[in-house]
Amino acid sequence: MVIIISMTDLKPARILAIETSCDETAAAVLENGRVLLASTVASQMDIHARYGGVYPEVAARQHVLSILPVIKQTLAQAHFVLSDINAIAATRGPGLAGSLVVGLNAAKGLALGAGLPLVGVNHLEGHIYSAWVYDAGNNPPLEPQFPLIALLVSGGHTELNLMDNHLSYKRLGATLDDAAGEAFDKVARLLGLPYPGGPSVQKAAEGGNPTAFKFPRAWLEGTWNFSFSGLKTAVLKEVKKMDGRPLPVSDLAASFQAAVVNVLVIKTVNAAREYKVKQIVVGGGVSANLPLRNAFLEQTEFPVNIPRLSLCTDNASMIAAAGYFRYAFGHTDRLEIDILPTWPLS
Ligand code: KG4
Ligand code: ZN
Repeated sequence: MVIIISMTDLKPARILAIETSCDETAAAVLENGRVLLASTVASQMDIHARYGGVYPEVAARQHVLSILPVIKQTLAQAHFVLSDINAIAATRGPGLAGSLVVGLNAAKGLALGAGLPLVGVNHLEGHIYSAWVYDAGNNPPLEPQFPLIALLVSGGHTELNLMDNHLSYKRLGATLDDAAGEAFDKVARLLGLPYPGGPSVQKAAEGGNPTAFKFPRAWLEGTWNFSFSGLKTAVLKEVKKMDGRPLPVSDLAASFQAAVVNVLVIKTVNAAREYKVKQIVVGGGVSANLPLRNAFLEQTEFPVNIPRLSLCTDNASMIAAAGYFRYAFGHTDRLEIDILPTWPLS
């Protein structure tokens, strides 16, 4: 029997969270798993842009430089000191090992020094929980309602999960090759668009015709899996056909984006119907994509929670949100825990 615990049954708590899984050094303070009190994200985007992608060692060293100022600034913004906090959460994985170590060790130090519980959080779980976060004083988005389907679309992951309750995940399907964000990044490179690829492709697509190119959709009927590498190859073929002549960048970007959005929305809604869910949740960097957001919001069959734009890409309020539910359900960790660079949700 599934017992669903209502938000009001959970103990109140303020969580200070740290996120350093990739190239953003971030900290946040969140109350009761949903109310955002302060958030800081120090982006390394400009540094990595010159390499065309994240350079792991550079990322780790930037985290070392930024972590303490980011934590201090976040606490100051919330007008809190550590004694106002109930637990410290940090991303334990998945992510770049050198980056994760910096954030998790900072969290361990704070937890030890302040005598607070430590909560290691799965970054993917964070992306899902960011959909319910809102600013103090604003109207809250719809509460979590189970069962729900969570579509996770980031630079490293694309998967559909069924959640029967908090912190419970059944992976229905995932990408067999490239993640959706990875496909955006690779196609951006093919089209000569700057890093990070997702926002560049979205911008280039604005003036383009989404039906100019008939790009393939991998439906993978009978499964909840995805595949984007064929689509990427189809874009490459069109680029090669031009043989050095100026590319119709906007039409290529718009047609590629339409194919990704089409598959993501239709498969997610079909899964929502099949499992008779009460809610769809979309999370991860690609959930910042406006055509994707609009397509989800335009279907009216299921209520949809998508994080607000600033919470779609990596941040620490998402880690605080998932960390709160872990803490409230008694899932705290020993200070001896190690990072988990590979850590599937289920
Ligand atoms: O969640 P995230 O910040 O980091 C990971 O956990 O991977 O996701 C980053 C990914 C990148 O591939 C980036 O190109 C993509 O999210 N992304 C977008 C948009 N903004 C970020 N993709 C499409 N449209 C966007 N507006
Ligand atoms: Zn992420």
